[in-house]
Amino acid sequence: MTEASPQDQGPTAALGRLGGSPLRLLQVSAEIFPLLKTGGLADIAGALPAALDADGCEVRVLLPGFPAIRAGLQHAAPIGQFTLPWGESMQVLSGDLPAVPGGGGAVRAYVLHAPGLYDRPGNPYEDSARRPYSDNHRRFAALAWGAARLARDLDPEWAPQIVHAHDWHAGLVPACLKLTAGRRVPCVFTVHNLAYQGIFSADHFGDLGLPPSAFQMDGLEFHGQISYMKAGLFYADKITTVSPTYAREIQKPEQGFGLDGLLRTRRNDLSGILNAVDSAVWNPATDAHIPRHYAVGHLAGKARCKAALQEEAGLVVRKDAPLFTVVSRLTEQKGLNLVLAGIDTIVQGGGQLLVLGSGDPELENAFRHAAQLHKGHVALRVGYDEPFAHRIFAGSDVTLVPSRFEPCGLTQMYGQLYGSLPLVRAVGGLADTVVDADLATLDDGTATGIVFASFSEADYRHAVRRALALYRQPRAWARVRQTGMQQNFSWTQAAQHYRAVYLAALPDFSRAST
Ligand code: ADP
Ligand code: GLC
Repeated sequence: MTEASPQDQGPTAALGRLGGSPLRLLQVSAEIFPLLKTGGLADIAGALPAALDADGCEVRVLLPGFPAIRAGLQHAAPIGQFTLPWGESMQVLSGDLPAVPGGGGAVRAYVLHAPGLYDRPGNPYEDSARRPYSDNHRRFAALAWGAARLARDLDPEWAPQIVHAHDWHAGLVPACLKLTAGRRVPCVFTVHNLAYQGIFSADHFGDLGLPPSAFQMDGLEFHGQISYMKAGLFYADKITTVSPTYAREIQKPEQGFGLDGLLRTRRNDLSGILNAVDSAVWNPATDAHIPRHYAVGHLAGKARCKAALQEEAGLVVRKDAPLFTVVSRLTEQKGLNLVLAGIDTIVQGGGQLLVLGSGDPELENAFRHAAQLHKGHVALRVGYDEPFAHRIFAGSDVTLVPSRFEPCGLTQMYGQLYGSLPLVRAVGGLADTVVDADLATLDDGTATGIVFASFSEADYRHAVRRALALYRQPRAWARVRQTGMQQNFSWTQAAQHYRAVYLAALPDFSRAST
């Protein structure tokens, strides 16, 4: 495994653009902010094109034509069509993504227009009963075929030199690029979450249009089934994941989800590149969603945001009550059972808890019950609400992310920048982005939050008690908060790391650099 580090970039940074012109890159993902988001993948897919553009790459994106993506695509026009292996015809549109105010220029997008596959309301992956759609193998094989056709001949005016595919939804992209006829275009595959793998019955293999040799252990076969995640990991030229610690964790059985062996064999092609924060979207000094702006040294606005949030959420409006918040998918991964178990510790310590999330109905019910039991001190908002999430970070004192596992995690970074101290478990990207407040780090001014080690109720409760104790020391609290707000989570470094990985995947570059 290689961990991208500034030193990695010597030769590649010096190279900059390839032959004086920008590196043409096609990014393939199922979600993208601001059009369609179910989690952090969308934030990253939305921010990366502008970050790479600033770093000498010309990025275009390929997306499935889900309703929200079709509706948001501007200046859409058909550019061509192709036939999928199972005989269905697929039209490809080209258009612009809406520009994010304060961000880069509009990003050019290719969108697969196939209402039969994508035109379904709600969640892009599951039906209203939260069952994965039975034709998901086709819906995402189409994405891979679209990428392969664009990499070769679909748009007579533009073809990428490299393809960057994200998560299992785009896992077949490297397989299609490597195993099907036509120009060879290298592919970088990024794992955002190994827990979601895109596993399908072997009966569907005939639909994929891949040679029979792909269905074997040295290929995309996984315990007798098809794994899109494994296809990505096996066929990609380079693999990245979203934090250095997660890059190490997924090579061990505990977090390898059965793919740790493959990841170990590919360790020389694997790097952990820490996610970053899009400051055009997440900045308390400019955020259009929050009631008052604020910044380091000008924190009056934050106090107003907190009071407004307490009022909006039905919590008692009290300046001195530390407000703990959760903005999250409600799933096993996020350690929300610990949050439930620690509610008494928060409430008895004079604190409040606000949860925004949706997902597992049992977790929803448990938080609903807690909110009824502790009216005015615990509140729950079920659903997905982007502006409310911004208001929560702005009004919050502590952002809870006690995850069981966490490839990177974004909310602990948003919390820091918004002056809400993250309370996290030392796992994955959480371990890479939060410095625990102990006597030494409080003394040298590097502390940014509260970190606990083992996934146990006792350790979590102890971490909550430490947060409550720190809150009662206003000067120490203010210093930790200020350090967090001053963290540099900008995309500059991550974009340089990605570019270094792209250049290392290009055959010409490899030859030139040896
Ligand atoms: P994951 O991708 O595992 O869900 P991340 O921390 O990487 O976790 O990213 C989660 C993203 O989704 C953040 O931008 C967070 O603010 C957002 N988010 C999660 N749940 C909600 C919700 N219920 N409403 C609004 N935004 C949410
Ligand atoms: C995944 C992970 C999360 C990560 C996000 C963006 O959804 O669960 O930890 O931050 O992808 O990379």
